[in-house]
Amino acid sequence: MQGVTVVAHPLIQHKLTLLRRKETSTKQFRELLGEIGMLICYEVTRDLPTTLVEIETPMALMQAPVIEGKKLVFAPILRAGMAFLDGMLNLVPSARVAFIGLYRDPATLKSVEYYFKAPEDVADRLVIVMDPMLATGNSAIAAVDMLKDKGVSKLRLMCLLAAPEGVAKFTAAHPNVPVWTAAIDDRLNDHGYIIPGLGDAGDRMFGTK
Ligand code: URA
Repeated sequence: MQGVTVVAHPLIQHKLTLLRRKETSTKQFRELLGEIGMLICYEVTRDLPTTLVEIETPMALMQAPVIEGKKLVFAPILRAGMAFLDGMLNLVPSARVAFIGLYRDPATLKSVEYYFKAPEDVADRLVIVMDPMLATGNSAIAAVDMLKDKGVSKLRLMCLLAAPEGVAKFTAAHPNVPVWTAAIDDRLNDHGYIIPGLGDAGDRMFGTK
């Protein structure tokens, strides 16, 4: 699928299988999501441009690469997107964070905004939007709409599991925003849940059901 990368690394696939199992505890679920988030983040940031700076090792001067440009912004969609945040900040401690509060209206499955807080200069930065579940695609589309309204032009979407319906809808709405996911499952059910999926990611992370 154009613009969509399925990260098929065996470590990610193994951890995803553990995560999907209904017996997996809340604690294990959070830990696994954090670990998988770091591994996917590694792929999402694989092509970041670098520039050379002069440093001095104990032995000699050298030109060594560092990531070029302004710091990244990680933009978790609340609440499930928070699963990825700590691990990603461990990998990229200087990244800034934008919080995007959206909930899904259970009747219409439409996304409703309730919170948005981003760095002032977010428009100058590369923003990685995070949501483990790309189901209907409505939340991811709304989050990217909100960021584009603030002038952001460099965007990537990082998720864990996607439904074909969500991928099709998101890529049609935002063809210039590449997507990374660990798997594309079979379909959505009538309530907008991914099948076979893993259930409600937010509830499983926080033990709310
Ligand atoms: N959100 C979830 O947490 N799970 C799904 O299957 C779909 C959306």
